[in-house]
Amino acid sequence: MEQTQAKRIVLGITGGIAAYKAAELARLLIKQGVEVQVAMTGAAGHFITATTMQALSGKPVLMNQWDDSSNGMAHINLSRAADAIVIAPATADFIAKLAHGLADDLLSALCLARNCPLLVAPAMNRQMWENAATQRNIAQLIADGVTILGPASGAQACGEEGMGRMVEAEELAAEIVAFLQSNKSLNGGSLSLALSPGERGQIQRMDGVKILITAGPTYEAIDAVRGITNRSSGKMGYAVAQAALELGAEVTLISGPTALNKPHGARGVDVTSAAEMFAAVKQQVAACDIFIGVAAVADYRVAQTSEQKIKRGDSNMTLELAPNPDILAYVASLKNPPFCVGFAAESENLREHAKAKRKAKKIPLLAANLAQQAIGADDNELILFDDAGEHVLPRSDKLSQARELLQHLAQLYRQGNKR
Ligand code: PMT
Repeated sequence: MEQTQAKRIVLGITGGIAAYKAAELARLLIKQGVEVQVAMTGAAGHFITATTMQALSGKPVLMNQWDDSSNGMAHINLSRAADAIVIAPATADFIAKLAHGLADDLLSALCLARNCPLLVAPAMNRQMWENAATQRNIAQLIADGVTILGPASGAQACGEEGMGRMVEAEELAAEIVAFLQSNKSLNGGSLSLALSPGERGQIQRMDGVKILITAGPTYEAIDAVRGITNRSSGKMGYAVAQAALELGAEVTLISGPTALNKPHGARGVDVTSAAEMFAAVKQQVAACDIFIGVAAVADYRVAQTSEQKIKRGDSNMTLELAPNPDILAYVASLKNPPFCVGFAAESENLREHAKAKRKAKKIPLLAANLAQQAIGADDNELILFDDAGEHVLPRSDKLSQARELLQHLAQLYRQGNKR
């Protein structure tokens, strides 16, 4: 059994307009069980106040090397207690300082004196990002073993459009958590994020296990512009992918149309229709150890789609629907199937229907949820059904549900309970 401890980061904020996103980043990390110590440059204080960051992190914000109580040794002490330093946002100027080993303020001195990983989320105007000097500096940081998160492309505060935006807080938080989870050797820590003290006892890792996941809805075209779909957001499937990555699994995520960014480290395959999802699964399934069907796959498609937009008429119109292949049932019935996990979204008689579904699809593990409460929502309540009976996961956010599901799955998988 591995002893675990909460993860700690130093969140370094430098002076750019994206500094306002650091507040949300701190909030999201703390929500996931990360201890956040904020250190800001003087320039950052022009964009966001230390009071805001102190209120969110619950700790005094460090800005000046000389005004703390550690005999001017904050630049040493802070990194010794941290599992990682995250600079978000990192301006072009600060990146240049890092690349050249300058240490003329608390944050840069702290980075130079660190004995823990450094993650940097650049944020700047697109021309500054494209400038050869910045690109040289980034290449140097990568060569020095620094992890670069982003930047993203899009509209910029200056009114221009292009590469250089800081990655959104939600995505950054997910990447940082995944990084911390996978760096289990650091400071002797292990997986403890967002787990209650009781849950921190033993984490089942899944290093190198190949997991294929379907997520999101499918879209079945009627004509050139119309189609049939459902309200699945992909949140549950993406959370399952994130939880699997945190445990060290190699994840392929086949996703229907969603507005979500794929978790960092997942191999993504984008599909639209059930037929495309089926084809992608068939292509990937031989290489996987575990298949998890979280997607809300349309059971029917339009038998005859129109390439042109169908014109409006005054009489009734009938759409003929043809059944789609059952992807999960196909995978489970392969000669040498992976360990199969199904989901069931039911609007009534949840337990009864879920048990029947597990039996009909001949799968070892099925996670059932009430469709009207789960679909599109941020949280969920899964009931897991396996040969031993049922296991209720009390309502929580989807990532926490996914982590618990993965622990249950890892245990069954390890026990060799493969069918
Ligand atoms: O995406 P979110 O907004 O986060 O919502 C999450 C969710 C409610 C969609 C998810 O938690 C969930 O329940 N997914 C399964 C939804 C579903 O289609 O259930 P089902 O009972 O119709 O299908 C049972 C299982 O067979 C599922 O694993 C499904 O992926 C699979 N299936 C279904 C039909 C089909 N043609 N092929 C399949 O593989």
